[in-house]
Amino acid sequence: MSFPQNMMNILKERIIKNKYIPTDHKKPLPTQARFLCNMKEEVLFGGQAGGGKSDALLMAALMFVDYPDYQALLFRRTFRDLDLPGAIMNRSHEWLNNTDAQWSEKKKRWTFPSGATLTFGHLQFEKDKYSYQGAELHFIGFDELTQFTESQYTYLHSRLRKGADNPIPLRMRAGSNPGGIGHGWVKERFISENSNLDYIPSNYTENKYLNIEEYGRQLDKLPRAERLQLKYGNWDLLLEDGLLITRSEAEAHIVTDYPYTKEETLLNLVSVDLAGEGKDKTALISLNKTSNGLYLADTQQLQDSKIEARVLAFIQKQIDLYNTYGVVFELEPGSNSEYSYRYWKNLIQSQFPNLLIYKMRPTKSKFERTRLTVKYMNLNQLFFVERKERQADKELDVTTLINQLMYVNPDPEVMKQHPSPDLLDALNQGVYYMDQWTTSKRKNVRRINYRKKK
Ligand SMILES: Nc1ncnc2c1ncn2[C@@H]1O[C@H](COP(=O)(O)OP(=O)(O)O)[C@@H](O)[C@H]1O
Ligand SMILES: [Mg+2]
Repeated sequence: MSFPQNMMNILKERIIKNKYIPTDHKKPLPTQARFLCNMKEEVLFGGQAGGGKSDALLMAALMFVDYPDYQALLFRRTFRDLDLPGAIMNRSHEWLNNTDAQWSEKKKRWTFPSGATLTFGHLQFEKDKYSYQGAELHFIGFDELTQFTESQYTYLHSRLRKGADNPIPLRMRAGSNPGGIGHGWVKERFISENSNLDYIPSNYTENKYLNIEEYGRQLDKLPRAERLQLKYGNWDLLLEDGLLITRSEAEAHIVTDYPYTKEETLLNLVSVDLAGEGKDKTALISLNKTSNGLYLADTQQLQDSKIEARVLAFIQKQIDLYNTYGVVFELEPGSNSEYSYRYWKNLIQSQFPNLLIYKMRPTKSKFERTRLTVKYMNLNQLFFVERKERQADKELDVTTLINQLMYVNPDPEVMKQHPSPDLLDALNQGVYYMDQWTTSKRKNVRRINYRKKK
């Protein structure tokens, strides 16, 4: 582990020489070191569980206890959270019990020989923040920040202050997994593109103090949404239910394997939602028809300007795996989409002359089009394949799709608050085509089934 000189100095002076940080914690993990050496006013250490966030907060709080007037506060939402075995206040006892720091049980406060203090607090009720009205604090730490409200955080932030000639840095520090009542504001404040605050993503796979494999297996046992939040530190999960289907109903359609062979696959269709006005991603999906319903077999989202090669590669892969029958494009309103369609049709047919290329000009809103997809789900005729071997990536694509199913809404104002649901659009279109083929155009289906390809 090698750090730049100024970081090495901070670590040496404030951590390694610090007698209140136990010997077995003198070697912070690389992410912890970045967190500890960052002297900006506000920093979030967030994401994966087990990345050493709580330990890092305690270390950060202790960094300046040799300054006589240093005042630090560490919060959990409730007293119970503070007091649990292994939680941050109990850890402070393991660290400080055999030192010259004095504990006051009444005030929940360590006082150091310098006069500096470290106090533990909780803000169970909104009004509890006013207990800190007169406080003048140099360090405020929130463990599990997404359990707090934004107004609690911003109120305490106003208590961060010091005298003009005081050299102690003012620091607001927080650790948090995604999820919890404060998920939305924490994401907006620290993680969204609009944020200019520092966010350090925690990473349990670098935590050499854990049994990493065993810990990963424990995280795998969690329900899907929590697993994605705690194992991958995914902040993009929306936990609300949709208007058309609940999250748990939708997640019940995720399967980890495509259970059919190429021969058993009746039909494969690639559906493309091209990037265009108002959206930046091209979404591709590969949909299989089987005797048991439809399977979303593969997905891809592309953002580059030169996406041709990757679209062709995606189609080639589906042809190899499933004997693709056709490709369907969604045409946006407006004349340019017609040119764009012709361009893609020529391109694809020059490489795959056997493929049928379709275009579709949607008439109904995205919300109305989703009804058919949800109907297939309710009939247990549509499944999403999430392959374990490509875990992180593909889980995120299925996650994105399920999120889109949750936020699709008939109100355009609501839709503006979310990214354009491109994967869902591509899926809706694929389901619509499959539905047409199997219902109204029966002749076509027979032709498809008997069609032989080499
Ligand atoms: N720098 C460190 N030195 C020794 N042990 C550590 C260090 N950082 C974290 N750990 C240990 O790793 C485990 C997970 O850390 P924790 O702070 O609880 O993670 P998080 O709060 O991100 O879930 C705990 O047992 C903790 O004591
Ligand atoms: Mg923690």
